Amino acid sequence: MRILVTGGLGYIGSHTCVCLLKNNYEVVIIDNLSNSNIDVLEKIEKITDKKVTFYEGDLCNKELVRKIFKDNKIDEVIHFAGYKAVGESVLQPLKYYRNNLDSTLTLLEVMQEFSCHNLVFSSSATVYGTPKKLPIKEDFPLSTTNPYGTTKLMIERILADVSKANKDFKVIVLRYFNPIGADPSGLIGEDPKGIPNNLMPYIVRVANKELPILSVFGDDYNTHDGTGVRDYIHVVDLAKGHLKALEKCLKSKGIDYYNLGTGTGYSVLDLVNTFEKVNKVEVPYKIVNRRPGDIDACYADPTKAYKELGFKAELGIEDMCRDSYNFIIKNKESHN
Ligand code: NAD
Ligand code: UFG
Repeated sequence: MRILVTGGLGYIGSHTCVCLLKNNYEVVIIDNLSNSNIDVLEKIEKITDKKVTFYEGDLCNKELVRKIFKDNKIDEVIHFAGYKAVGESVLQPLKYYRNNLDSTLTLLEVMQEFSCHNLVFSSSATVYGTPKKLPIKEDFPLSTTNPYGTTKLMIERILADVSKANKDFKVIVLRYFNPIGADPSGLIGEDPKGIPNNLMPYIVRVANKELPILSVFGDDYNTHDGTGVRDYIHVVDLAKGHLKALEKCLKSKGIDYYNLGTGTGYSVLDLVNTFEKVNKVEVPYKIVNRRPGDIDACYADPTKAYKELGFKAELGIEDMCRDSYNFIIKNKESHN
């Protein structure tokens, strides 16, 4: 089986490519390196001792996408490519609508031209907006609070329409909760450019003394210690979820939606304390005001993915903290 992975050099994409190669899939990647580094390609190949077919370029470039489908018989597609920074999407909405929607439309049109009918799409728990109850199930009402989230929801709707119009077209939509962690080799991981927005990349930089102190955004939420609660999932587990989705896609009809989370919520301070304990480092922090738009708590009901995909996250919060730090330690030269 040959899988086209869009955005395959990014954080989740690279871990998924490793998982695919280890399971004897052939992998073709398209990535424009807008949020990734070409070194990741070599690292994927080093971890797996397998070769990848790589196209550097933009998924909005229809001629290039056609060439990829012409040169390679693609059986299924996993679509990761897109921009993902919530704050930036509020400031530059058109950048997000243009890239995330245009790339998806181009991909879908070319898939149709080449009669490739199997797609796994990276959506997000952000499409649940502010959930009324917890844990979150797939049939909860959908809404968004920022342009990034709106692109995800719009793409979900586009995919539903396309699968309705074309009975052969099968889609698995995966709604990720909060992916953290890294491959245990320490070769690939999450390495955002500039000052990180997300919690774990910020914690590792504070632990590594690249940033002085973590700001904890609010301790007056309705949670066990007042700080925000999220469903953190190890990126290696998340990657495995994509293999399950590919298997399911071949057998399914129409469109299906799955949460990929652990089902357990941890607070900001739970994560900080576990990180300090597991890695024997200090993570100084201060409590500051809430970040606008944040919610108290968000965690998945993972039952549907377990029952229908056979997916269950296996790694715990300790593994996530250990592997996130290991990645930064192994890549210290590029950080200090
Ligand atoms: P990432 O930024 O690390 O990876 C995305 C990759 O896509 C990058 O390598 C980037 O260079 C590439 N890319 C972007 N636009 C492109 C284009 N037009 N053509 C070709 N390549 C392009 O992000 P990630 O964390 O790996 O996320 C992957 C997907 O999962 C994204 O769609 C994201 O919205 C979604 N997601 C991520 C999270 C998260 O917390 N990381 C949570 C929910 C959903
Ligand atoms: N937080 C801090 N300090 C920081 C960063 C975050 O206290 O410096 C807190 C937040 O307030 C929140 C928790 O840590 O309570 C997690 O925040 P993240 O920014 O890591 O993650 P979010 O849950 O806000 O959002 C992430 C992605 C979204 C995605 C969502 C659900 O950024 O794109 O998970 O998948 F939609």
